[in-house]
Amino acid sequence: MKISVIGAGYVGLVAACCLVNSGHEVTCIECDDQKRKKIQEGIVPFYEDGLERLLVKGLESGRLSFAAGLSKSTSAPVVMVAVGTPSGPDGMVDLSQIYDVMTAVAEQQLKLRVLIMKSTVPPGLGAQLQRLFLSGKGSGAAYISNPEFLREGQAVMDWYNPDRIVLGGDNCEAVELAKDLYKDIKAPVCVMDITSAEMVKYASNAFLATKISFINEIANLCDLMEADITSVAMAVGLDKRIGSHYLQAGLGYGGSCFPKDTRGLNFISSYNGYTFNLLKSVIEVNFQQRILAIRKLSLHLGSLVDKRVGMLGLSFKPGTDDTRESPSLDIIRMLINEGARVSAYDPKFGVGREKLLPPGCKLHSDAMSAVSGCHAVVVATDWQEFAEMDWKAARERMLYPYVLLDGRNCLDPGKLRESGIRYIGMGKR
Ligand SMILES: NC(=O)c1ccc[n+]([C@@H]2O[C@H](COP(=O)([O-])OP(=O)(O)OC[C@H]3O[C@@H](n4cnc5c(N)ncnc54)[C@H](O)[C@@H]3O)[C@@H](O)[C@H]2O)c1
Repeated sequence: MKISVIGAGYVGLVAACCLVNSGHEVTCIECDDQKRKKIQEGIVPFYEDGLERLLVKGLESGRLSFAAGLSKSTSAPVVMVAVGTPSGPDGMVDLSQIYDVMTAVAEQQLKLRVLIMKSTVPPGLGAQLQRLFLSGKGSGAAYISNPEFLREGQAVMDWYNPDRIVLGGDNCEAVELAKDLYKDIKAPVCVMDITSAEMVKYASNAFLATKISFINEIANLCDLMEADITSVAMAVGLDKRIGSHYLQAGLGYGGSCFPKDTRGLNFISSYNGYTFNLLKSVIEVNFQQRILAIRKLSLHLGSLVDKRVGMLGLSFKPGTDDTRESPSLDIIRMLINEGARVSAYDPKFGVGREKLLPPGCKLHSDAMSAVSGCHAVVVATDWQEFAEMDWKAARERMLYPYVLLDGRNCLDPGKLRESGIRYIGMGKR
């Protein structure tokens, strides 16, 4: 099948490469010239395990090409949209990238049959886009909502092994065509109306975020009552009705999806006259975890003025270099506001990205040099490298009171205490 994928970001590039790998012919449209040129040379501009191999294979196959914009020559009968839908300041979803694409689709009078929306858009938007840009004066193409659930860090694996494929649409022929795209993937296909499909994505992310905030609150109680969250969460998660995923207590969720999608759903609820109290608390608890990190450090360091703090981990989770809404960046900002001096390291945060760091934060090229001369260290991302680090050697290079805040509960407290480090967990003893 000939497909145009619009947007070569974390979702679009994975979709394009995987669709080519499944035998389709894809033109990927990316408006960022620098990004597109890099990709055309076979370089993935972000870290995603296994993607570069697929990209190179796709380019060699001759079935994967790239273009700067949508036109009659670059458009296929099937267009898949994977542009960004970031969050506005009040949580309202910024749909400017979506409207730009839809305007281009309508203006170009493409021979389009089906438009597949992969981007996360507010429930109700798809039906409106179909009416405004496709039916009436448009190409008459069908609209399919096909939300994406892949996780950064394991995106290729998730593409081929999804828990379900959700297709929302009112045109049976278009739904069948969309099903055909995924015929080599074994997963239940859930067909429904457009608005329900859009709601599935928000409901899933809001539920997972709720699990995270819930376990974080239990962890905070564990701290007060001298219980151990790792034992509690392990046993709670063994209950099949609950499940063990997303029950790791820590600094809270970050990334390009959970924060903006929870805020987005909260805004959509208010806009529709509904107060989603549970979701409001989930968002609030998530932010409190970052403040809690500062409070825990202050408890052991006293004033943070001129204290040196090492931040290990900048990405919002291991396996990715994505720092969008990463808890560590918020914590660095708060530390600097309190007068602390921060040195940071992340295994996938390459040189040249310093401008993404809060001003005043010094980037190091290895963990040991980032923690040297620090009064305290925060492990903010559970990269394996930090669990395997020589903490005895790190302690030698640190300054009194040798505090380590394990913001992801990923280290062995016993070993750290043995090496003379003052270990603090997030509800972990
Ligand atoms: N990142 C994730 O893990 C993930 C997972 C599931 C769903 N989603 C959703 O998928 C969508 C895309 O997310 P992402 O993380 O890939 O975003 P991204 O910002 O990484 O990528 C979007 C890309 O689209 C390009 N773009 C924007 N407008 C364009 C246009 N008119 N023509 C051509 N290219 C254009 C941008 O330059 C950018 O490279 C969002 O709605 C997001 O919520 C993301």
